Amino acid sequence: MSINVAIDGPAGAGKSTLARAAAGRLGYIYVDTGALYRSVAYYVLKMGKDPKNSGEVIALLPGIRPELKYIDGVQHVFINGEDVSEHIRTSEVSMNASAVSAIPEVRQFLFDIQKNIAANNDIIMDGRDIGTVVLPDAQVKIYLTASDKVRAERRCAELIAKGENADFETVLEDIRRRDYNDMHRETAPLKQAEDAVLLDTSELDPEQSLSRLVEIIKSRI
Ligand code: DC
Repeated sequence: MSINVAIDGPAGAGKSTLARAAAGRLGYIYVDTGALYRSVAYYVLKMGKDPKNSGEVIALLPGIRPELKYIDGVQHVFINGEDVSEHIRTSEVSMNASAVSAIPEVRQFLFDIQKNIAANNDIIMDGRDIGTVVLPDAQVKIYLTASDKVRAERRCAELIAKGENADFETVLEDIRRRDYNDMHRETAPLKQAEDAVLLDTSELDPEQSLSRLVEIIKSRI
């Protein structure tokens, strides 16, 4: 049986960086499920439709073929054969990914891709509903979080490092709005699974967070 590690938590908690690094240390595949929701949002925008209009989004689903591929160990997301990995990281796509992810049909549509990859590989998968809905039988479940202010500070530092503008209040407001959306949607809202270990990194630096994460995983497999 393959080993499944589920990591859930709010936007900007460092899930992807930490999950990717932990997967590297343990020799597992890192699966970023947010990229799937982002790719759907990207496609809806590209087709000139409104990601907040569930009817328009649902009508597009039959024409979307999302795929996850691993190139030199790095996840790439393809939509109908086009590698969209680079295009899905804008803040416009972030907000709209949150909108499409609230549509139950979109969640159902992306469910099998996530299940299949977890059934056939040792993986660390991160998202919002991995421990609660997608992989309820995962051997390890972690709820990774940090205070919203710490998450906003880290996000600003990332933007500045990339040479982009970063206004702390705007970034904090964005994070709060996404948290609210992700935690209050009706289908598969973000919440800590009952059997998940809570890892709050507000007071930890990246190296400490990674050590703690790997320690939790190793103690449970
Ligand atoms: O992790 P991320 O920021 O790339 O995710 C983008 C959006 O997708 C986020 O607002 C919530 C949604 N999402 C989700 O609903 N379920 C997941 N398993 C992963 C992401």
